[in-house]
Amino acid sequence: MCAKLETQPTEHITYEGLLEGNKEWVAGTLAEDPGYFDRLAAGQKPPIMWIGCSDSRVPANHITNTNPGDIFVHRNIANVVVHTDMNMLSVLDYAVNVLQVEHVIVCGHYGCGGVEAALGTKQHGIIDNWLRNIKDIYRLHYHELDIISDHKKRCDRLVELNVIEGVFNLTKSSIVQNRWGSGKKLGIHGWVYSLNTGLIKDLNVSCEANDHLSSVFRMDQMM
Ligand code: CO
Repeated sequence: MCAKLETQPTEHITYEGLLEGNKEWVAGTLAEDPGYFDRLAAGQKPPIMWIGCSDSRVPANHITNTNPGDIFVHRNIANVVVHTDMNMLSVLDYAVNVLQVEHVIVCGHYGCGGVEAALGTKQHGIIDNWLRNIKDIYRLHYHELDIISDHKKRCDRLVELNVIEGVFNLTKSSIVQNRWGSGKKLGIHGWVYSLNTGLIKDLNVSCEANDHLSSVFRMDQMM
């Protein structure tokens, strides 16, 4: 693991600085492991797919102490999982059916600006249409959310519910159901990362079969 341990973001990042940083990283990596890039270039076989928030403070490899080649990553604002997102579906299909990952993890994070914005009424532009997906989750769970008086705690609970609904949306997808129907192992999991502690909380909503779904969501296998 070659992750840096700075506690503050790099000061004044520039375009040129990124390219310089890249050269330094290559030189340092090769000095430590001359075969590193040859091995990575040979191909990937990550066992995990990750659906996370685009937030710059939640990089999948860094916070799980893993390396390039370990996790196939999809990120969007507020780690939304909806069936009309061709980008997410394409990543999921490739991960499950080509890379044959064994686990898909939806990982949200407390303090998510996208989730907080979805609980508000201020207009932010085109992103409001994306965040409407989270307002739909509020609509499903408003009885629980409206009795939480503390705004931060209400946001944090909606972060968790957004992950839980994301997990369920994955399990309802034909991609995941066909995988299960073929008898192959595939676990779908929901986690939340804490920016304050760096720790990940497992929401214990893992699914490895569609038997928890009501019958209308259990799809017949294609002949
Ligand atoms: Co976020």
